[in-house]
Amino acid sequence: MNSIPTAVSIRAVAKHFGQFVAIREMSFDIADNEFFTLLGPSGCGKTTLLRIIAGFENTTSGTVLLFNEELKNLPPNQRPVNTVFQNYALFPHMSVANNIGFGLHMLGWSRKDIDDRVDQMVKTVRLEEFINRKPAQLSGGQQQRVALARAMAPKPKVLLLDEPLSALDLKLRQQMRAELKALQKETGITFIFVTHDQEEALTMSDRIAVMSAGEVQQIGSPSEVYEQPASRFVAEFIGDTNLLDASVVSAQSNQHNQVDVKLDSGECIPATAASPHALENGARGHLSIRPEHITLNALSTTNDLAGTIRNTTYLGTDTQYEIKLDSGVNLFTRTQNSGNQQHNFSIGNKVNVSFAPNSARFLSH
Ligand SMILES: Nc1ncnc2c1ncn2[C@@H]1O[C@H](COP(=O)(O)OP(=O)(O)O)[C@@H](O)[C@H]1O
Ligand SMILES: [Mg+2]
Repeated sequence: MNSIPTAVSIRAVAKHFGQFVAIREMSFDIADNEFFTLLGPSGCGKTTLLRIIAGFENTTSGTVLLFNEELKNLPPNQRPVNTVFQNYALFPHMSVANNIGFGLHMLGWSRKDIDDRVDQMVKTVRLEEFINRKPAQLSGGQQQRVALARAMAPKPKVLLLDEPLSALDLKLRQQMRAELKALQKETGITFIFVTHDQEEALTMSDRIAVMSAGEVQQIGSPSEVYEQPASRFVAEFIGDTNLLDASVVSAQSNQHNQVDVKLDSGECIPATAASPHALENGARGHLSIRPEHITLNALSTTNDLAGTIRNTTYLGTDTQYEIKLDSGVNLFTRTQNSGNQQHNFSIGNKVNVSFAPNSARFLSH
């Protein structure tokens, strides 16, 4: 087997601050050259985990390995790791060139090596024209690029990025996403990127760890965590979804985790169980159905899932419909606008609702 080496191995790591549990025991590996994202709401432990990897914080239990080496007693400045902070932390009185070269100077690099590396880095982040400026004379996006260049200058094997785009306005943030992704592929440095912004995570990452309250809820590719959420938290945190209270009524056919579930409102629906332990008859949980996975048709024959359009919202690329099923359940759907009007519905229209069994995910927690 020629497998990709592991860059960072989180082994049974937990972190308590007094009584407070910031990180519950978690274990996972991050591959060399991966763009790996920690995604979760504020306070879920993302920064704490980065600080542990960087060496600014000890674990309460468990260990972190970097390229299979135990890090416990290695101080931060001797780890092959560097950090880009949210506020950039640039030195205000130093030029761009000196900001980028400062860390190399501290590491004892020669003047010539520092100059060469700074040259290389300003080219990488396209700041050649700005090398003599001070941070205050740069735009937010340019300051961000200085911070990136400075962090990458000592050739770390792993770069930790703690919400590095949050200070930028939306347009610039979107542009920087593409730049960061390209930079990661170009340099081959393993990126561990922290964000609470699901769109950022989905657009840049090879894999995402979705975190909540000190726990990892799911690790997967962007499409896996979006299309196959493992829990209610993941389904709700990433994208929009319909969540309907339901229980399993028939779990006899275990192939592909297919189950029949009954909504509390009475409808029976073929669905896909997110985890095998949801396959017991009577198991309670939620059915998650993404709005764009629902198809609407003008009401023809009798159907379990008939309803009435209660509201429509034009969103440019899509139209959102709010529907009340005859049983009383509320759903919302999104239909892409094709430019011709033939599929449009209006308030009061009767419709049939349909979706594929693998678009209806039964989540037991
Ligand atoms: N040094 C500390 N002492 C006490 N509590 C802390 C400390 N650092 C972080 N915490 C707490 O741990 C939790 C996780 O914090 P943090 O890792 O910064 O979250 P995130 O980066 O996901 O927003 C928060 O509730 C925070 O208040
Ligand atoms: Mg944080």
